[in-house]
Amino acid sequence: MVALLESFQQALDQREAKLARRRLTILSPGAADFSSNDFLSLSTSSLLKSRYLRKLDACFSSRKAVGLGSGGSRLLDGNSSFTEELEQFIASFHDAPDGLLFNSGFDANVGVFSCIPQPGDAIVHDELIHASVREGMRLSRAKTKLQFKHNSINDLNRVLQRLVKEDPSISEGNRNVFIAVESLYSMDGDVAPLKEIIQTMHKLFAHGNAYLIVDEAHATGVFGPNGAGVVQDLGVQKDVFLRTHTFGKALASQGAIVLCTTLTREYLINYARTLIYTTAMASPTLVAIRVAYELMQQGKTQPFQQNLQSNISYLRACCDAIDGIDRSIVRIDHHDRSPIFSIRTKYPRELARYCQQRGLIVRAIMAPTVPLGKERVRVCLHAGNTRHEIDQLVGAIKKWAEDLKMGSPKL
Ligand SMILES: Cc1ncc(COP(=O)(O)O)c(C=O)c1O
Repeated sequence: MVALLESFQQALDQREAKLARRRLTILSPGAADFSSNDFLSLSTSSLLKSRYLRKLDACFSSRKAVGLGSGGSRLLDGNSSFTEELEQFIASFHDAPDGLLFNSGFDANVGVFSCIPQPGDAIVHDELIHASVREGMRLSRAKTKLQFKHNSINDLNRVLQRLVKEDPSISEGNRNVFIAVESLYSMDGDVAPLKEIIQTMHKLFAHGNAYLIVDEAHATGVFGPNGAGVVQDLGVQKDVFLRTHTFGKALASQGAIVLCTTLTREYLINYARTLIYTTAMASPTLVAIRVAYELMQQGKTQPFQQNLQSNISYLRACCDAIDGIDRSIVRIDHHDRSPIFSIRTKYPRELARYCQQRGLIVRAIMAPTVPLGKERVRVCLHAGNTRHEIDQLVGAIKKWAEDLKMGSPKL
C-alpha cells in the first residue's frame, strides 16, 4: 500500500517537475469565458432553460410519465420510447438513416472504433484525431493503424496508396479501410477538407471498401444549416459512413449520437461495449438534448450562430489591426469562420495566467494535448461574448506582448 502511494506521489512529482501536472480548477464567477466549448452560449440561455423546464415538467406529470433515472443499460431496462423517438428525431434532423445514443462522445468513439473495423482491416486517421478515437483504435481488431499529416490530402493519398500497394486484400476489396477525421478540429480550429477526402477515397477504392467516419463534436450547433454540422453544410452525408455528434459542447448538455444505417446501429447495439455495459442516460439529460435539437430544428439557434460569427469577425478584425505587436513574440492563428483562435507564443502558461488575473478565462494548451513545439493559448469565442470582453482580451494580449518586448515580462 505504502509503495503504491509512493509511486503515485512520484508520478505526480515527475509531472510537476515537467510543469505538466493537471489540476482541476473552478472558474471565478463573472469572468469572461474565452475557454469553454459552450460555443452558442446556450448553457446560460433563458430560452433553452425555460423550454427545458416546461418539457421536463410535462414529461414527469403526463400519464405516460417517464422515470427520473433510466434504471439500466439500453439493452435491459434503460430503453424507452422517448429515447427511441429522440434518436429518430435527431437522425432525421441530420438527414441520416438512423442513430444510436451514447452517454458521451468519448463512449461513442470508443464503441465505434473498438468494434466496427474487422480483423485484417485498416484505420487511417488524421494525426490530430481526438484521444477517444485513439482509445477505440487501441481496442480495435484492425490489423493496420496509420496516421496522415493533419488535413493534408497529399499525405492521405500517400498513406492510402502505400496501403493499397502493400496489402492485396485491401486493393482487391476483401478488407476495409476506415478513414477517421474530425470536421472542426478542437485545438487548431480548422475544418477537414471533406470533399477532397471523399474524392481521394473514391479514386483509390473502386471496390467501395473505404469508409469515412467524421467526428462532428465541435461543429455541432456551430456550422451548417441550423447547426447541423459540416457534413450537411457540404451536402456530403451520403458519402460518409458514420458521423458522431456530441451534445456537451454547443448544445449545453451531454451525450452523443452515432448517425449510421439501421444495420450498423443493430451491429453497435450488439458489439459496442460502451453502450452495452453502462447505464443509459437519465431522463433530464434526454429532455435537455431533445429541447436543444428542437430549438435547432425550428431555426431558433440561428441568431446564436449569427452572433457567434459576428464575434468571430470582430476578434479577427481586432487581431489583424493590432499594431506594434512583435509577431515573433505573439502570433495569432485563425481559420475562416472558426470560433477557435490559437495564440502562439513561447510562454503560453504565462500569457494565460496574465489574462486570467484580469478576469479573462483562456487556457494554455501544452504537449501532449498538442504536439511539442505547438503549445498555445486557446481562445474560444461564444455567441454571448460582448464586444467589451473581446476588446479587453485583445488589449491584455497586446500589453503582455509589449511588456515582454520591453524586457519587463509578466512571466
Ligand atoms: C473531437 C472530439 N470528439 C469526442 C469528444 C468527446 O466528447 P464528450 O465530451 O461528449 O465525451 C471530444 C471532447 O472533447 C472531442 O473534442
